[in-house]
Amino acid sequence: MTAKEYATVKVEIEDRVGWMILNRPEKRNAMNPQMHYDMEDVINHLSLDPDIDVIVLTGAGESFCAGMDLKEYFRALDNDPAEQIKVRWSMRNWQYFRLRMCPKTTIAAINGWCFGGAFTPLISCDLAIAADEAVFGLSEVNWGILPGGYVTRDVAMVMNYRDALYYILTGKTFDGKKAAELGLVNESVPLSDLRSTVMSLAEDIKKINPETLKHAKEAFKMSRDMDYDQSFDYLAAKNDQLRFRDPQGARDKGIKKFIDDKTYRPGLGAFGQDEE
Ligand code: COA
Repeated sequence: MTAKEYATVKVEIEDRVGWMILNRPEKRNAMNPQMHYDMEDVINHLSLDPDIDVIVLTGAGESFCAGMDLKEYFRALDNDPAEQIKVRWSMRNWQYFRLRMCPKTTIAAINGWCFGGAFTPLISCDLAIAADEAVFGLSEVNWGILPGGYVTRDVAMVMNYRDALYYILTGKTFDGKKAAELGLVNESVPLSDLRSTVMSLAEDIKKINPETLKHAKEAFKMSRDMDYDQSFDYLAAKNDQLRFRDPQGARDKGIKKFIDDKTYRPGLGAFGQDEE
């Protein structure tokens, strides 16, 4: 599938990895209404593209994303409630529903500035790698609002109580290394290594059966809000669903290679999707 063109997002495809690049570098990739509309479509296309296994979200230029656009989203829509609702639905749709529950594994590559509203797409991605040089901030209080949308809720999910409140209440910035220490990203590397690190992580993901990954992600994201008994039952049913839906039969192949053929140790890695 050839990459479509969008006003505010660039799409690049390399080795079965789809890169969604927020592309308003002159505005530090702040999210205006058009970017929300574009992102809904971008994620839809990449999620359904059979030639893509992993999806990466990053930003063009020196910024990952400077949050919501203060001019085109906040000020311009203050007196236009109908348009505000439309944009909010679009934002929720791509950031929370389509990205968070994307059927492919998603990685955020935080290449630079990452402020306010940008925390939601960052946290919605399954995995995240930051550049050491990236600058993060819950800057909302600095200009008189609280972290809205899903930001406060998302931060409460991934950061511990004291750290979350510290950054929410001070609006202070922190770098990529600190983001890794806080558990906001998996790892921080020099900016010059960001793309190769993300591609190498994508290689690891590509070795694993895609249907298994999709179900494992859904299981984790859905069960964390259930109580113990509900999650036990749900996860059993989810594994049955996976067995039924996996066209490659990874589970039975894996068991056979281990128990019957004795050619493989499940504890030490995936057995390779292409192997019989
Ligand atoms: N909304 C709207 N426009 C934004 C923006 C945002 N969130 N972030 C940056 N821009 C625009 C600036 O208005 C400026 O536009 P102009 O060239 O038409 O004047 C352009 O992007 C460059 O911004 P500038 O501040 O000059 O760049 P910088 O590299 O010196 O600083 C930031 C980068 C990200 C530190 C700074 O732009 C900033 O603080 N942005 C707001 C971040 C924020 O608090 N976001 C939370 C929103 S929820």
